[in-house]
Amino acid sequence: MTPKYPSDSLTVLTDLVLPSETNHLNNLFGGELLARMDRAASIAAQRHSRNICVTASVNHVAFTKAIPLGSVVTVEAKVSRSFNSSMEIYIDVWIEDRASGNRTKTMEAIYTFVAVDATGKPVEVPPIIPQTELEQQRFDAALRRKQLSLVLAGKMKPNDATELKALFLKE
Ligand SMILES: CC(C)(COP(=O)(O)OP(=O)(O)OC[C@H]1O[C@@H](n2cnc3c(N)ncnc32)[C@H](O)[C@@H]1OP(=O)(O)O)[C@@H](O)C(=O)NCCC(=O)NCCS
Repeated sequence: MTPKYPSDSLTVLTDLVLPSETNHLNNLFGGELLARMDRAASIAAQRHSRNICVTASVNHVAFTKAIPLGSVVTVEAKVSRSFNSSMEIYIDVWIEDRASGNRTKTMEAIYTFVAVDATGKPVEVPPIIPQTELEQQRFDAALRRKQLSLVLAGKMKPNDATELKALFLKE
């Protein structure tokens, strides 16, 4: 299969925070942001694989900064690494200052999607070639994250997670 670049899957979703999407503190409800990220990640996975893609796992989300009502929120998703049928999608979330237009990074998240055929059976996806330094860093760490996710899901024995174990054995 012809390799692709992370930029080929770049998906950018920009939307407002409306009153019906907030919690009691008038900040964006976490589940609403998870849904926006899932949509962006799903499109990024489809762009990389040109196939139907399903969410296999939400590997990491940290709601580090609250996003107030009325904010303009941009969710940027890109495939950071592909394996056989699965893809890690790295998501960056930004809010935009109304007056200056300056963007502030509010959080990151990592999802895993699997490309499937019409019967839901996993199918092969193209390899990926990172281009920027950040893309390379995310690519390099993705195998460890995949192994951690599989161990937590009970799909891999901790002893077989060699790259993950190596992280803890480093001096
Ligand atoms: C995701 C799904 C297709 C995996 O199917 P499966 O029969 O378990 O297939 P496999 O075990 O061969 O796994 C397929 C790939 O997914 C990866 N995978 C499966 N579970 C994973 C997890 N928890 N974390 C990371 N990767 C995972 C496997 O490592 C494999 O990757 P690879 O082919 O790149 O090596 C299947 O579990 C499914 O359809 N789940 C429901 C998806 C869904 O409906 N999502 C929306 C929820 S509302």
